[in-house]
Amino acid sequence: MTPVTVRVPAKVNLQLSVGPRRDDGYHDLVTVFHAVSLFDEVTVRPAERTTVRVTGQDAAAVPAGRANLAARAVRALATSLRRRGKSSVHIEIRKRIPVAAGLAGGSADAAAALVACNELWGAGLTQPQLSEVAAGLGSDVPFALVGGTAIGQGRGELLTAALVTGTYHWVLAFSSGGLATPDVYAACDRLRASRAGASRAGAVDVTGGAAAGTGPGAGARPGTGTGPAPVTPGPSLSTDLMAALRSGDPAEVGPLLSNDLQAAAVSLRPDLRRALAEGSELGALGAIVSGSGPTCAFLAADARHARELAVGLTSAGVCRGAVRVQGPAGGAAVIAAEPG
Ligand code: C5P
Repeated sequence: MTPVTVRVPAKVNLQLSVGPRRDDGYHDLVTVFHAVSLFDEVTVRPAERTTVRVTGQDAAAVPAGRANLAARAVRALATSLRRRGKSSVHIEIRKRIPVAAGLAGGSADAAAALVACNELWGAGLTQPQLSEVAAGLGSDVPFALVGGTAIGQGRGELLTAALVTGTYHWVLAFSSGGLATPDVYAACDRLRASRAGASRAGAVDVTGGAAAGTGPGAGARPGTGTGPAPVTPGPSLSTDLMAALRSGDPAEVGPLLSNDLQAAAVSLRPDLRRALAEGSELGALGAIVSGSGPTCAFLAADARHARELAVGLTSAGVCRGAVRVQGPAGGAAVIAAEPG
């Protein structure tokens, strides 16, 4: 069998509307995913047993054993195909997407592994069939299969294509160190609980819930004040953002970017505030934390403006590096099936 290589994009969220925490620990979302031209490459080839090798950006931070999400994707696909034996592969991941950065790099690698093994094994699963397997692996994995710009609902795994015109020029400012997605959602819950507590108590500063919290929802104990606690509304799509995306004008899109996890990410990494402010100062049309962070995404007017922004952010010392990317980019796709 011939080795198969798949290229897969990173994503940013143009909107991330987060509802209350569900009983299963997840949060209902409405999000606008947007794939950008920062790619990982994943190669699979038949092997005696499944192994993973990671090279490139942050390679040491990626688990290389059975816990690797791409390895889990291979096992999940083999199980759904009832493929007994002959399902071991060597997985080589060439990383350019930073790890734990809010860019869904691990999800991207899992999506790439699904597409690659589907091809390697001649399984012929359609994209909706692969999506079902993908949803079991993680909330962002189905989007990495399709790419482009899409509205995600549920945990993020239920996708609808979004109508978008034009090409958007972005600068991604990388931060040293990552953020674990569950930690950021938990911080979001705590911030909301303490805000609700403050509002019930009629006080401005009620930090007890946040400070005492040790896990998701830990700050959600009823406050001591009177009156009903504000309820976190369900997530909702910004129709203004969707209209702006149809117009294709980045100047319209920029001010409408929003992320309900941003305050939580900034609370865990206060240095991000400086990066966001610097980008705005440098004339970014929009400045936002990407997903659960800590990467910040800045929308530029055009390619030239993106170059200026990248240079400005780097020389201001507010990030460990900045890259220019464009969106929307295509989803996971086979780029090579070399002679074995
Ligand atoms: O689905 P995935 O494994 O990528 O999610 C990682 C973590 O992010 C979950 O365990 C959960 O803590 C949080 N999450 C959430 N609500 C979502 C998606 C993720 O709370 N819709």
